[in-house]
Amino acid sequence: NVIYVLNGPNLNLLGKRQPEIYGYETLADVQAKLETKAAQSGFTVEFFQSNHEGAIIDKIHEARDKANGIIINPAAFTHTSVAILDALNAFESPVVEVHISNVHKRESFRHHSYVSLRADGVIAGLGTFGYVAALDYFINLS
Ligand code: DQA
Repeated sequence: NVIYVLNGPNLNLLGKRQPEIYGYETLADVQAKLETKAAQSGFTVEFFQSNHEGAIIDKIHEARDKANGIIINPAAFTHTSVAILDALNAFESPVVEVHISNVHKRESFRHHSYVSLRADGVIAGLGTFGYVAALDYFINLS
């Protein structure tokens, strides 16, 4: 029961970056919350953030034989990356796409997601609770 939680560019600045949109919680806070919840349910989360597309792709490849699911907030790569979509298409277990903000309420370039072509579920606009809800989905599956 291993879930990879992958975060894309600029999410290392969560809590400091446009808090009116993304809130004041840091990525370390999110990680701690997920690790606690996972441990209570016999799950392990592998938490990862990178500003580099290739590093995220490498991590998705690693997940192919290490993870039972992926929770991914691809951040801006959501709207640009065919390569991340292709990597996720080579991953055979469930994928949940998370966005902290409601991308559909924002600029039109945020309305299209390459990753949604692969994701089994998409959560947007629930703030950092979206990650918790996604983990709950995996816990309920098991
Ligand atoms: C985001 C939304 C994206 O459009 C944006 O580029 C991000 C964060 C979100 O979590 O709301 O960096 O994925």
